[in-house]
Amino acid sequence: MSLNRDFDALVDADNGVISRELFVDRDLYELELDRVFARSWLLVGHAGRIPAPDDFFVSRMGNDSVILTQSRQGEIMVFLNSCPHRGMRVCRFDQGNAALFTCPYHGWSFSTNRERVEVPGQLIGVPRSEEGYSGQLDRVRWGLKRCPNVVNYKGSIWANWDPDAPPLEDYLGDMRRYLDVALDGRDGSPGGSQLLGGVQKWRIRCNWKTVAENFAGDLYHEVSHQSANLAEIGLAKGKGRRDALPLRHAIGFPGLGHGGLAFPPTTEPPLNLSPDYGDAEINAYYAEIHGRKVQNLAGKAHVNLVVGTIFPNMSFHANQPRSLAIVHPISPTEVEMWRMYLVDRDTPARVQDMLRRYYLRYSGPGGMTEADDMENWTQVTLASQGAIGRRQPFNYQLGLGKEAPVDGLAGGVASGSYSEGNARIFYRRWKDLMAAPGPFEAEGDARHGG
Ligand code: FES
Ligand SMILES: [Fe+2]
Repeated sequence: MSLNRDFDALVDADNGVISRELFVDRDLYELELDRVFARSWLLVGHAGRIPAPDDFFVSRMGNDSVILTQSRQGEIMVFLNSCPHRGMRVCRFDQGNAALFTCPYHGWSFSTNRERVEVPGQLIGVPRSEEGYSGQLDRVRWGLKRCPNVVNYKGSIWANWDPDAPPLEDYLGDMRRYLDVALDGRDGSPGGSQLLGGVQKWRIRCNWKTVAENFAGDLYHEVSHQSANLAEIGLAKGKGRRDALPLRHAIGFPGLGHGGLAFPPTTEPPLNLSPDYGDAEINAYYAEIHGRKVQNLAGKAHVNLVVGTIFPNMSFHANQPRSLAIVHPISPTEVEMWRMYLVDRDTPARVQDMLRRYYLRYSGPGGMTEADDMENWTQVTLASQGAIGRRQPFNYQLGLGKEAPVDGLAGGVASGSYSEGNARIFYRRWKDLMAAPGPFEAEGDARHGG
């Protein structure tokens, strides 16, 4: 692997020209795992997947399998799902309830229960311990590797392997205010959302960045969704595929890499985004929520947003539909996409049912809008792998030079509605991270020549 790639040649964000190698090259992909994923805050799940003590949910961080768990003592923890003995996955389930994880290969077992071990994840059971190790095996040293940084932010759970990582709040910056729109209640109550249903997981043959940049602010691809608009998959008749909105702006955060299609902060009364659902009970429910929102936010600066990406691989839809997505890297040209759906905590069953059906016809492997995008991303990837195709750079010049600071938003920059400004911000951040050694590269890594 060459560490001496010319990242300035690969990403010329000033001129909006980016190499296709970013989307197909295996060496760059391997380097991303160390330099982007091993030092970034990554969404690993939602508190709603582990509501009770000893609940666990198996997730991923970059290309590593991890176990997210709420311990018996109520601490939220993340462990590498790989046995320190010979690497077997100690947990083969997607989710469940356990304080003890027994490796299926040679039977070492590990506990997260502080009443039984000094250090959560510690090795607690070793077959033939006396006979084979003279009872001398260091059970703390050979416990499950634990992720040092884990934060529950309004139910969304984030983790970062880098011991020197900045706090999540600094990492998110003012993009956090837009994430809040997804995680708060529709009435503006902090963290007033909960999960609806399970986690959708499916694979797409494309690079993870192709997905992340789309959700970071690509309003320009609206032509792709004409069929979903014509089919009127939205909640209101005659309104296309989603609630009508005034034209959003690409708002991004240089240096952080995040961005979305959003509105600048305002102290005006909040927009009423609810359409006519053609159902008096549901209309009354949403009117009541909006009334509460107007009261809760009166005179306060607030934001609104449709869709955004938190660098590197977390995206969210904050309005309708409303969901959190993680784009897990699988290979240079494959991802595993996860979607979790959100509703307000007190949503009546009838409204939940309406939303569940809407979310499914919009998003996920069977969703019409998602299907449009998956077709684009798959074909983009196929057409960028040939000897000639991979050598033709991509054009990211839409809205070039239109970047302007946003009042009331720390570090926020807007660049018009139809703009690739957020993608340029995303790839600048990617380049900065890729040019600096990752936090674990000094630990003697054979892949990188130590
Ligand atoms: S690989 Fe887990 S006990 Fe051997
Ligand atoms: Fe799309």
